[in-house]
Amino acid sequence: MAAGVPWMLGMADTMWSSIAPLRVDFGMIGLVFGACAMAIFVWSYLDYNNIPTLKVDLTEQERTQGHLEQDLKLSKSGKHPKGEGIGESDGQVVCYDPATLDVLGKKRIHTKEEVEDKVRRCAKAQEAWAKTSFKKRRMLLKIIQKYVLEHQMEICNVSAKDSGKPMLDAAFGEILTTCEKIRWLLAEGEAALKPEPRSAGSMMFYKSARVEFHPLGVVAAIVPWNYPFHNILNPVTAAVFAGCGIVVKVSEYATWSSEYYERIIHAALDEVGASRDLVQVVHGFATTGQALVKAKEISKVVFVGSTGIGRKVLEAAAENLTPVVLELGGKDPVIVCDDANLSQLVPIALRATYQSCGQNCTGAERILVQEGIYQKFLDAVVPTVRGMRQGAPLAGLVDCGAMCMPRQAQNVQALVDDAVRKGAKVVVGGSLKTEISKGQGQFYPPTILTGVTREMRIWNEEVFGPVMCVERFATDDDAVNLVNSNPFGLGSAIFSGSKARAKAIASRLKTGASSINDFATTYLCQSLPFGGVKESGFDKFGGVEGLRGMCYTKAVCEDRLPFLVTTVPPELQYPIKPHSFRMVCGIVHFFYGVGLYSNLCGLCRLLKALVLPGGKPKRVPPSKRD
Ligand SMILES: *[C@@H]1O[C@H](CO)[C@@H](O)[C@H](O)[C@H]1NC(C)=O
Ligand SMILES: *[C@@H]1O[C@H](CO)[C@@H](O)[C@H](O)[C@H]1NC(C)=O
Ligand SMILES: *[C@@H]1O[C@H](CO)[C@@H](O)[C@H](O)[C@H]1NC(C)=O
Repeated sequence: MAAGVPWMLGMADTMWSSIAPLRVDFGMIGLVFGACAMAIFVWSYLDYNNIPTLKVDLTEQERTQGHLEQDLKLSKSGKHPKGEGIGESDGQVVCYDPATLDVLGKKRIHTKEEVEDKVRRCAKAQEAWAKTSFKKRRMLLKIIQKYVLEHQMEICNVSAKDSGKPMLDAAFGEILTTCEKIRWLLAEGEAALKPEPRSAGSMMFYKSARVEFHPLGVVAAIVPWNYPFHNILNPVTAAVFAGCGIVVKVSEYATWSSEYYERIIHAALDEVGASRDLVQVVHGFATTGQALVKAKEISKVVFVGSTGIGRKVLEAAAENLTPVVLELGGKDPVIVCDDANLSQLVPIALRATYQSCGQNCTGAERILVQEGIYQKFLDAVVPTVRGMRQGAPLAGLVDCGAMCMPRQAQNVQALVDDAVRKGAKVVVGGSLKTEISKGQGQFYPPTILTGVTREMRIWNEEVFGPVMCVERFATDDDAVNLVNSNPFGLGSAIFSGSKARAKAIASRLKTGASSINDFATTYLCQSLPFGGVKESGFDKFGGVEGLRGMCYTKAVCEDRLPFLVTTVPPELQYPIKPHSFRMVCGIVHFFYGVGLYSNLCGLCRLLKALVLPGGKPKRVPPSKRD
């Protein structure tokens, strides 16, 4: 108030002196700021509370540590005590915890007819959904996001039990990545799908051109087991945001948790008044996946998995000419130059290799270290890896969990054994004979291998396990060759004290992504496309490209001005006139002339054709006469 009075009287004063008292009244400023902050807080509180809260409870089995059928454990060979194997048990998928081998339950396998029926229902639901506003689609995602934020532990517990991954790896790979994806869709999704203006060219300067993005229809996603929650939510959020419906075939090794995740999505669809048919999950093995890929109404297939199965999906999709996105394996390298900061990169290299026990398509598979710091690098990583705690994720704090897929521990062992036979050296781990691996659970110990060479299977094949292969290189050219000679090309990382050097190396690596002085940060930038080259697959999901990939692009062209109407010039109308051809030649020369002189020549030809439609009879040169 005290500030207000002189201000009121300041009419006779100079401008400066009138505002000076206001300037120094911090109390007033504080009050205004305080009030604004309060208003923002209240407004954002009301805004958050406007987002419906889902009530999706865990079932008894999902909540408790125990198993469904009391005291039922699979044997290490993957046999159910009742004599059933994983998979073929009378139309059911046997689900179990890979860290304890507790049987979690059985889920019905969807038959071909059921899959086709689900796809048809999805197509019907999608017709209505395609007409919804972005506002409504954002609300759907916000509802899911709110539930995820408030139920991180439930989601991670269920994921940990189904996939054997430690809670921290679930928090990072399942929750954080998914939340970032939703955040990106909320913030930038609509802009990415807005019609994009394009140039119409010189001759059609009076037209405007644009690309429009319209929802494809029903998308099929076939996803792996390594991140049971994220792998479902990742394609689902993009598909529904773009206006598509989606049917997701989950892996037979991550079927149990998918039921909870599907319940969350369905509850959110209920909240916005959309049909539950819009997003559906199907369970089963190859025949279920094949039925989905071949279903008539499927407009696109997103496949994430191994190179071998990717080929089969592509074959199946060929029948209906259904486009496919293939996200296959990787053999992602970390290049460590001798001027790199070891204390910065060692923890990153360790997380990159051992998170989720290496079961991550963009996990680090090869660490290429320049000779100068090779030994220092090994000395820095070995003690940490030796000290890693491994065990069942829900029984206590562990650094490493289990291998999700049955027999994966044996597969990893076979790769390690082959390498050792051919001269590689095991520095840490490397054997299934450790106590943890012999017990109940699919464990492979954290391992470090050195001396890996081209002759070894592990050089080219994806391990997908907790194995760090440390290789040496001499020059930057060598490092580039080591990476580019590999059949895969998903991600890569380069560490160097010189950013210019790191960037120069990165630009020469034939991989779908490169991170500089960090690892796989490209995946956390959800505006970026994700996907590899060579045997890592093709096309992208994620980012602007992935979101637009859920759409068909429509090229649209129209008159720029409302009063402009395009007609066919008389010379081009039927019946064709004798000079029509010469006129078009002139037009071509005029518009596409190389440089101004050329344009002008074209203009002359055009005018000549118009002014002298009959043309002059051409003299035939004597040499051509016969
Ligand atoms: C998650 O699992 C842990 C360990 O079994 C348990 O203590 C905790 O209560 C569970 N939390 C939820 C929300 O289910
Ligand atoms: C896989 O690992 C990379 C690198 O550590 C990480 O950025 C990414 O989030 C992980 N994948 C998922 C699905 O979380
Ligand atoms: C190396 O990285 C560490 C962080 O791990 C940092 O504290 C240190 O300053 C870095 N050293 C140099 C020379 O940049």
